[in-house]
Amino acid sequence: MQEETLDMLIDAATEASRNSYSPYSSFPVGAAVLTESGRIFSGTNIENASYGATVCAERVAIFKAVSEGETKISALAIFTTAANLAFPCGMCLQVISEFCEDIPVILASDAVVRIYQLSELMPHRFGDAS
Ligand code: THU
Repeated sequence: MQEETLDMLIDAATEASRNSYSPYSSFPVGAAVLTESGRIFSGTNIENASYGATVCAERVAIFKAVSEGETKISALAIFTTAANLAFPCGMCLQVISEFCEDIPVILASDAVVRIYQLSELMPHRFGDAS
């Protein structure tokens, strides 16, 4: 991936984390997806008093893209201020895998950037059962 694209994705994820609605965990997360057509969609975690209704930043970003007609993603960035980078949860990995094959997943904090492949984080996925 080009350096410029990488920076744009991390910036979009960082910016999105500023809108985090996380009064219960106080753990802001921002995510940004690059679609195959070159558009970037960002999202942040949105929590709920019923806890279980919380939606992670990754899924918000992906659902924004899909609801705008973009169903193919080619990279994903996640920003947190955590000292240890935050990996996507299992539910988000399943949702990410619905809309791509193997893509770079960029984990960023203020101090560190690490790039993984989705296949490292999720070597096997549940696919279409039909
Ligand atoms: N969270 C995300 O947004 N993405 C993840 O992959 C893991 C967790 C959010 C959910 C919740 O608002 C907060 O982080 C603490 O779990």
